[in-house]
Amino acid sequence: MDSSLKEDDAVLFIDRKRRRYLKRLRRGRRITIRGDIPADELIGLPEGSRVRLSSGEFFLVLRPTYADLVPNLPRQAQVIYPKDTGPMLLWGDVFPGASVIEGGIGAGAFTIALLRAVGPAGRVISYEVREDFARMARDNVAAYFGPAPQWTLRIADIYDGFEETGVDRMFLDVAEPGRALTSAARALRFGGVLVCYVPTALQLKDTVDALEASPHFGEVDSFETLLRHWQVKGLSVRPLHRMVAHSAFIIVARRVAV
Ligand SMILES: C[S@@+](CC[C@H](N)C(=O)[O-])C[C@H]1O[C@@H](n2cnc3c(N)ncnc32)[C@H](O)[C@@H]1O
Repeated sequence: MDSSLKEDDAVLFIDRKRRRYLKRLRRGRRITIRGDIPADELIGLPEGSRVRLSSGEFFLVLRPTYADLVPNLPRQAQVIYPKDTGPMLLWGDVFPGASVIEGGIGAGAFTIALLRAVGPAGRVISYEVREDFARMARDNVAAYFGPAPQWTLRIADIYDGFEETGVDRMFLDVAEPGRALTSAARALRFGGVLVCYVPTALQLKDTVDALEASPHFGEVDSFETLLRHWQVKGLSVRPLHRMVAHSAFIIVARRVAV
């Protein structure tokens, strides 16, 4: 891939203290942080360049990785944290060419991860009950993923069921995934994988109880992920004081033949 910065690229400006500012390179416009610089001066530079703004301050300019992007994504609902996204894609066994249903789209953060993982030969069908969230997610996917012909967005309540059958994988990030199990079983193929993401212990218990009571699901497994960054600076080599101590529980189950 050509590393030079292009018109309309989303880029992070990173200052000396590693604070990050997500900007877009619009021709004829100026990028303003503390001081400014014409976007045209950046277009064509190699990604990873250090640029000087009118204030004299230098910034490192990089396209955001997925983990950089998600905390900066415009949003109205809580996104799935990148620390959980990786394990969810792996335990959910998403593969290139897979067909995947997503229930609850929020800002579209996880949608972008799914679209990347299934690739152009796959299919992602996202269900969202709120039109305003769907609009924001559509804008985020267009801005930070690009054209996605393999993506279908349905404005619908997942508790009313899914239109698809024979899908490989399903991800539910809604309050009561246990209520959707009968329709989830109808949509998933035998052997398919269901992944639920719920923030509280009561939701975890309700969801696992519902899965264990269902004849359509087996191999139920629940876990959470803890990610602790470290400071490695001179003789100060220790965990950072702050971390995201809790995000949500991840529940994985297989669609079994009755
Ligand atoms: C926490 S957000 C999802 C965040 C998303 N996974 C992300 O990473 O950006 C939950 C979403 O589920 C939607 N939702 C809640 N109940 C729903 C239902 N019954 N059917 C469809 N969508 C629903 C909410 O409107 C909200 O957008």
